[in-house]
Amino acid sequence: MKEALKFPDGFLWGAATASYQVEGGIENNDWAAAARAGRVVPAGIGIDQYNRYKEDFALAKSLGHTCHRISIEWSRIEPEEGKFDMAQINHYKQVLQSLHENNLVPFVTLWHFTLPEWFAQKGGFRKKENIGFFVRYCAFVVAQLKGHCKNFATMNEPMVYSSMGYLWGQWPPFEIFKVEWYFKVVFNLIRAHNQAYNEIKKDNPEVLVSLVKHNIYMHVSPSSRFNLVYHVACRLSHWWWNEYFLNKTSKHLDAIDINYYFHSEYGKSAKHIKSDMGWDLYPEGLYHVLKHAAKYGKDLRVTEAGLADEKDQFREQYIKSMVENVHRAISEGTPVKGFMYWSLLDNYEWSHGFSKKFGLIAVDLETKKRTVRHSAYAYKKICETNAVITD
Ligand code: BGC
Repeated sequence: MKEALKFPDGFLWGAATASYQVEGGIENNDWAAAARAGRVVPAGIGIDQYNRYKEDFALAKSLGHTCHRISIEWSRIEPEEGKFDMAQINHYKQVLQSLHENNLVPFVTLWHFTLPEWFAQKGGFRKKENIGFFVRYCAFVVAQLKGHCKNFATMNEPMVYSSMGYLWGQWPPFEIFKVEWYFKVVFNLIRAHNQAYNEIKKDNPEVLVSLVKHNIYMHVSPSSRFNLVYHVACRLSHWWWNEYFLNKTSKHLDAIDINYYFHSEYGKSAKHIKSDMGWDLYPEGLYHVLKHAAKYGKDLRVTEAGLADEKDQFREQYIKSMVENVHRAISEGTPVKGFMYWSLLDNYEWSHGFSKKFGLIAVDLETKKRTVRHSAYAYKKICETNAVITD
């Protein structure tokens, strides 16, 4: 029998984006430098949200959204070491103003993967002595924008960032299996978050500071349940990938933001439908990562969950199933306060360039025309009714 699963009053619904992936026209960060060196696809003007944010936010509103996640581009705010660009601060104030005009509660991430070139050239987060630059930038931006936003996350997916740049060599600085540097970066990011938290809260106790954590549901397949090696490997990976960073930062968090894309099954895995990224669609994993993150005793928000699906054939069902899993977690007492689909629009998917289509809204790269996908209307129903109807 069909049943409406109601969400708590005030639950926030929306979508997420990140500066370098949507804004266009950013030429002085490490990704732009990598593009010039021919190592990644250039982002160029991309989908040009820098100039089209009003249109995009009006679309989000028309789709029933009540919140929206963006990030601030460090290389715009501090294009040279110690030189802060107030024109760019004013730009982001207008962006936030536009979110408010569309009744979208803003969630701001201060750093989403891209580094100003000058910071990258100094060795980035590999060097402990560079942490102070990040802390100064975070405190500056929050002090400037706090009148327009209450929820700030210091950083996006530190574990992903460290491994893609220092183990797998796929993202700047393209280091392959530099294990020592990898650990240094992880430990420095922990310090960077904690110090930024203290610095922000010292002068702005009224804002809420979180970090955005990419967690994976790790499990042993039923057919391998007696395999001790799998259990140990699963437990260790879970501890390192999902827990370690949060264990070390939990005293410096007002809330925890969770991004969910993967499960990792040890042993013989059942076959699952895959997204255009080749990733299993495993919505029940979201329930498990939320249940786990609840142990830190903070409010949780799903700040990313989504799929690349150019044909829009699986998106509607996948969103619905994820939302049902969020509901299940909430009904068992997990304090989840919002859900933000990744992403509002098709955008620059890092080393894949513009080839992967995560958007609720498709974008024609030539004309920049936005076209709402069918699945976005199904999500709209969920947002507007604050409920999901089970099959
Ligand atoms: C990142 C996004 C990215 C998405 C899809 C997340 O890990 O925060 O920037 O586009 O995954 O790969």
